[in-house]
Amino acid sequence: MVTGSITDALREHRARIRTDAPEQRTQFERAAAAIPALIDQLGLDDFGGAVLCDAKPRILWRFHRCAAEPGPQVVLKVYGDQPRGEGPLLEAWARNKVPVPGLVHGVRDGCSWLLMRYVPMKRLALESPRVRTWASERLAQLGTRIHAAAPELNPLLRPLATVMSPRWQLEADRLRARGFHVPSHWDDLAAQLYSALPAGPLHGDLAGTNVGALGDDVIVYDASALSGPAAFDAARWAARLARYGARPQEVFERWAGFEPFDDEPRGTELLAVECVLEAGSISQLRGTVAMGAVDELLSTAGRLLP
Ligand SMILES: Nc1ncnc2c1ncn2[C@@H]1O[C@H](COP(=O)(O)OP(=O)(O)OP(=O)(O)O)[C@@H](O)[C@H]1O
Ligand SMILES: [Mg+2]
Repeated sequence: MVTGSITDALREHRARIRTDAPEQRTQFERAAAAIPALIDQLGLDDFGGAVLCDAKPRILWRFHRCAAEPGPQVVLKVYGDQPRGEGPLLEAWARNKVPVPGLVHGVRDGCSWLLMRYVPMKRLALESPRVRTWASERLAQLGTRIHAAAPELNPLLRPLATVMSPRWQLEADRLRARGFHVPSHWDDLAAQLYSALPAGPLHGDLAGTNVGALGDDVIVYDASALSGPAAFDAARWAARLARYGARPQEVFERWAGFEPFDDEPRGTELLAVECVLEAGSISQLRGTVAMGAVDELLSTAGRLLP
């Protein structure tokens, strides 16, 4: 948490963008320009500092006073662009009894914003097998509610293939450059699987960074708001647990026991594709734990893909 004044927070964030992501400057400045009107509109006061200050062109600030719902302690998230499905999808989940932070959302001066209740959540200790099993089962139980069709949201959800295919190619090429075996025919297979139907609402980035612990339940936030086959969320969650020592196929199959992917016989292939992507991303880390996870992920992919 970076405390201090709004001017200081903007200055620090601007400096990060200038150094690490200058191409994001225009988007960031658009978000920054929307802030005064939003503070006024939402009755925000008693600035509590930046929750995160990095090189992303979105602002994430805490305020200790808020006249509007869902005050009084809130987190304001402002993106320098729109439209975003994150707010509408979280709102739909709240109606559907998925545990998410209470929120309102909107668009102001071309920027999507979310105003969330400040939630005193804890990090999920996913290093613990017991916590991994508990969190995986809880998310799987919520799966059918998370993935319930919401046709009114379709125009706001980004297709899975549009977001994931370029990332997959980047990670597959990274692995190949490092000498790992990633068969070339998997490239087309990955693109096909990301485009598979039926497509419904997806969180899109279920991981320990976007799911917390609150009381005796999980809390889900930061939805990428994608549209694709429901098995993707289970696949991504399972693949991302490999870095903590989990076996992705076991996690995926346990999830499918709660939320069957009957109409998606290629669910395990989607898991394999996610395993490759996660292996690429972990291969940048150093250390034996990371390398063990890369081996586990690639051998899972090798078992599941033709
Ligand atoms: N409503 C909230 N209450 C308390 N803390 C929050 C809340 N929303 C976000 N946070 C904290 O801020 C962190 C980052 O939030 P979030 O995951 O929404 O943003 P992000 O990953 O930076 O966003 P994006 O990927 O959309 O750029 C969370 O991991 C959590 O620690
Ligand atoms: Mg996040």
